[in-house]
This record gives sequence, C-alpha cells and structure tokens, in this order.
Amino acid sequence: MPPLSTSAPDVSRNARQANFRFRCIACGDLSDRASQDFRCSHCGDLLEITYPHWKESSLEPQNLKSTWRQRRLSQSAVDFSGVWRFRDLLPFVNDEAVITLREGNTPLYELPHCARITGVPRLFAKHQGLNPTGSFKDAGMTVAATFARLAGFRWVACASTGNTSASMAAYAARGNMRSLVLVPEGKISWSKLSQALDYGAVTCQLRTDFDGCLKLLQELVLRAPVYQLNSINPFRLEGQKTLALELLEQLDWQPPDHIIVPGGNLGNSSAIGKALLEMHPLGLISRLPKLSVIQAEGANALVRTLREAGGKELVSVHAETRATAIRIGNPASWKKAVHVLEATGGACEQVTEIEIAQAKAEIGAEGIGCEPASAVTLAGLKKLVKQGFIKKDESVVLVLTGNLLKDPDFTMEFHRGNLFGNSVKDRGDASQNSALDSLRRPPIVLDATLDAVIRTLEQAEKS
Ligand code: F0G
Repeated sequence: MPPLSTSAPDVSRNARQANFRFRCIACGDLSDRASQDFRCSHCGDLLEITYPHWKESSLEPQNLKSTWRQRRLSQSAVDFSGVWRFRDLLPFVNDEAVITLREGNTPLYELPHCARITGVPRLFAKHQGLNPTGSFKDAGMTVAATFARLAGFRWVACASTGNTSASMAAYAARGNMRSLVLVPEGKISWSKLSQALDYGAVTCQLRTDFDGCLKLLQELVLRAPVYQLNSINPFRLEGQKTLALELLEQLDWQPPDHIIVPGGNLGNSSAIGKALLEMHPLGLISRLPKLSVIQAEGANALVRTLREAGGKELVSVHAETRATAIRIGNPASWKKAVHVLEATGGACEQVTEIEIAQAKAEIGAEGIGCEPASAVTLAGLKKLVKQGFIKKDESVVLVLTGNLLKDPDFTMEFHRGNLFGNSVKDRGDASQNSALDSLRRPPIVLDATLDAVIRTLEQAEKS
C-alpha cells in the first residue's frame, strides 16, 4: 500500500471560484474553511453550506427551469447527471473535476395499489433506489467525492449501515481514490457489504453498532489524512438536495402537499428540507410541501427528541430494527432535521417492525419494491392519515431510498414466514397476521412435472 500523505489537505472551498461558504447551524459563524471533522471551530456544531451571493445574482426561476430541462438532452456527463444538471444551486466546480456515475434522474411512480390501501388517491413514489449503486446516497456522494478529490485527499472514509459505504466505494474507485469503510459487524446486509468489497474498499467490520463506527470515524479524521464522507459532510447534503429539485420538475413545479422520508442519521430529511427552503424564496415553488420523517419504533431517536425534549436536545436510543439501514440511535443531523420539520410544518412518527414488513410487501406488490428502511414511508403514511394529519384529498410523495435487492434476506424471510422468529414483541394481532399472510408468496418446491405445475397454477387462481 502506498504511504498516506502526511500533511492533511485542506477541506475548504476553492477560494478563487467558490460561490459558497460554510455556516455553523448553531452559532451562525461563517467561514471559508472547514476542519476535517466538519464541525464549527467555535462551538463544535455541524456546518452547512450557504450561498451569500444568491440574493444579488440573476437566478431567475423561469431561466433556471428551462436550463435544467435543456441539459437533460445533452450528451455531456455533467449535464445528464440528475445532480449536476442543477449545478446552479450547488457549490461551484469545473465540469472536468466532477466524479459522476450519471446519478439521479430517478423515476416518479404512481402507486395505485397503495393509494387504494391508504385512501390517498394522489400517491407517488420517488424511487431513489434506482440510482447507480441502488440508493439515494449516490446523489450526495457525487458532490462530496468530487470535493474530496479537489481538496487533494487520497483516502475517503465513512461509517455506514451499508448504503453509504457501497456508494462511497464506487465513487472513490471512479475518482481514483482509496476508500475505508467502517461497518457494524453482522448488522448490515450482505448485498451492501459485497458492493463495497467489489468496488475495492478496505472494509472493516467493527464489533460495535453504527453509532460506535461513526464516533470512531470522527476521531480518525482528526488523526489521519482521511476525508469523511458521512452526511455530516455538508457537500453530501448539497447533492441530496437535488432529489427535491428533480421531484418538483417531474411535478411540473406544482408542490405536493406532503413529502415523506425515512429517518436514520437524518441527513436526507435535512437535505430535502434545505432544498425546499431554498427553492421557495428563489420563486421556484409557490408554497412549501410539509416534510415528514418516519422512523422505526426501535430506532426512534428523533421521535423521542421531539416528544420528550421538545426538539431542544437529542434523546439517544439503543437502536434495534430489522430495517438495518436506519438502525441508528444517535443521529448526527438531528438539529438540522428538527429545523426542517418545524419550518415546513411536517410530522415525525414511528412504525413497528410488522408495519414495516407489511408496507414493504405492499410496495413490492406494485411491481416497484424497495428495501425495508424505505417502506417506513408507506407505514408512516397510514398512521398520519389515521391521525388526520394527512387528508385523503392531499397529494403525497414517498421517498423510496433503497432498492429491493439491497436486502434479499429480509424479503426471503418475510415470504417464508420466519422474519419475526418467535419474539412475542414482534408478533402482530390476528388482523395484522392475516394481512401479512395474504402478502406472502413463498417459493414452492415441486416435482418437475407438467401436472404439478398446472395444479399449482389452478390453486393460485383460486386463492
Ligand atoms: N434509507 C436507506 C435505504 C438508508 O440507507 C438510510 C441511511 C436511510 C434511509 C436514512 O437516511 O441517514 O439520511 O436519515 N443509511 C446510512 C448508511 C446511514 O450508512 O447507509 P438518513
């Protein structure tokens, strides 16, 4: 292995051409530089990226919209990317410096079957699982990896529940950088782990949980010349903002009433909220959709932070859920998420393991599919409709964050009926169990005869 460079490169903007500054979300300190842990040098809180010149610049909404539409027709990689197409609202970078896998441009699907189940006719799914590495992380990674390389880093690193590591490893490889992955041992799906291996990451399975991995990474970046690519890195959130831009473009700039996202480390909800709060004053949208965050009951730090501490201080939890992507108890971006929930008037709810499994199978039955963490959105929608927070005549977009193929074990165990083991806590009531049974499609082992297959077909037709 070639030696690590000894002098830590500067994680700052390119001073000459930069169109942005770093701002501390707590004390508001503005700066042109960020330290390697992306924390404020005065108060230690998280940084965000801000664009001081937008006010006096000529960002005219109609021009922006037509420029973004036209770029889609171009063959150039940066124009075609569903992230860099919107570069007018991103940190400036020269086109040749961009590391892209043609991320973004993900479909917006109608969900007629789930619309019937929930009673919300105008129901859509923005499927970020159709990104190059199968999750929404790619939108943020293309920006943050680009800035890592610009700052001169040879090594990038992340702590992950699996998707960040898969995405980081791919973008690092494309950008000729080395990558270091810290994942909790035995707690992430094999498909995600296998992606990191194939993309060439140095992959460490640590005997701790995600929160332990992230804590260690934060210490590591202060000791070694390694650029961290978790969503604490504000460049990640800038890339992930484009989900909202692309969604609104697909809706012809008519805002939906509600957008619902899963909440783990809370970077994605913060990014989507930031985009909405930037688009509104720029005149790109006439009103703000309500952004709601849904967590698994066993990993409900934000729910408890809002209910028990009024959103003023983080209530950490020991996280446990089969939706391993969001098995996070100490979310780094909780303050940013509280801010966007309050600013857009969204809600925060939690859903059970059974509700997640049922919702995942229902999305699968639409022919769309997603990973368990994404399915919390549909489960949460059902709750928010029941509570009257979402009205049946309102339009709703669910953000599906990961591909169905990300966690095949969960899907197989669900259909074979052994997902929940014998744990009483996880078993549902009779009506839940019969709903789950009606969704199960276990594989059927048969003798290789025509009769056996025809009999199975006839039985299936009757059921
Ligand atoms: N959905 C999926 C599929 C995820 O992988 C994650 C996070 C989330 C939702 C939650 O997003 O953290 O921005 O609130 N996965 C991270 C990872 C933590 O390491 O892959 P968040």
